[in-house]
Amino acid sequence: MTKIALVVGSIRADSYNHTLAKNIEQTAPEGVTFQYVDIASLPLFNQDDEVSFPATASALKAIVDDADGVLFVTPEYNHSFTGVLKNAIDWGSRPWGNNSWGGKPTGIIGASISPNGAKFAQDALAGIVDYFVSPRYQAENVSLVVDETTFGEDGRLSGETLDQVTAYITGFAAWVEAENTRTQREADLAAQAQPVA
Ligand SMILES: Cc1cc2nc3c(=O)[nH]c(=O)nc-3n(C[C@H](O)[C@H](O)[C@H](O)COP(=O)(O)O)c2cc1C
Repeated sequence: MTKIALVVGSIRADSYNHTLAKNIEQTAPEGVTFQYVDIASLPLFNQDDEVSFPATASALKAIVDDADGVLFVTPEYNHSFTGVLKNAIDWGSRPWGNNSWGGKPTGIIGASISPNGAKFAQDALAGIVDYFVSPRYQAENVSLVVDETTFGEDGRLSGETLDQVTAYITGFAAWVEAENTRTQREADLAAQAQPVA
């Protein structure tokens, strides 16, 4: 069983990225489960509030802490990812020394209406993931160019786009599992290397 925390960077009611996240959920291999992180309920990050951490931010951290991997699905706003997503990232990274995102195998995909897809958003987010020293899935990033015809009336992708997204989530889930196995093996070896008292 592989648990993925899904973080959608748009809180718009008819968000293409939310619809994309639903398609990812539907096409994922058996044994992969998804927990959506609620970023809409978070207050604006204020360092003063860390002393009485908001319940919504604690809930976000609990989902990420429990996950084997994190998948960001975000649109592009002004050549970067969205402000609401940055707010969620800031909450999840606190308090100091307890960064929930740190070290989690992470994927980044997204959809945008411009010809570049969400490429610049993905590049900006990749910089933060790397700063957190989290392994980042680089095999095949998906930056979808979308419009009102991309998803069917039932919200489903079809054809090549569906194949692309299916390949992405299948590869990502396998990679997350491999990353967790590798990390566990390294931890086991480090424990064995400890001198016996
Ligand atoms: C404030 C704002 C800034 C935007 N800037 C960009 C941009 O820089 N590049 C781009 O490709 N699309 C940009 N867009 C268009 C969004 O990609 C498009 O609205 C997309 O559908 C938003 O994702 P969603 O449908 O998941 O909410 C912008 C939209 C908004 C509202």
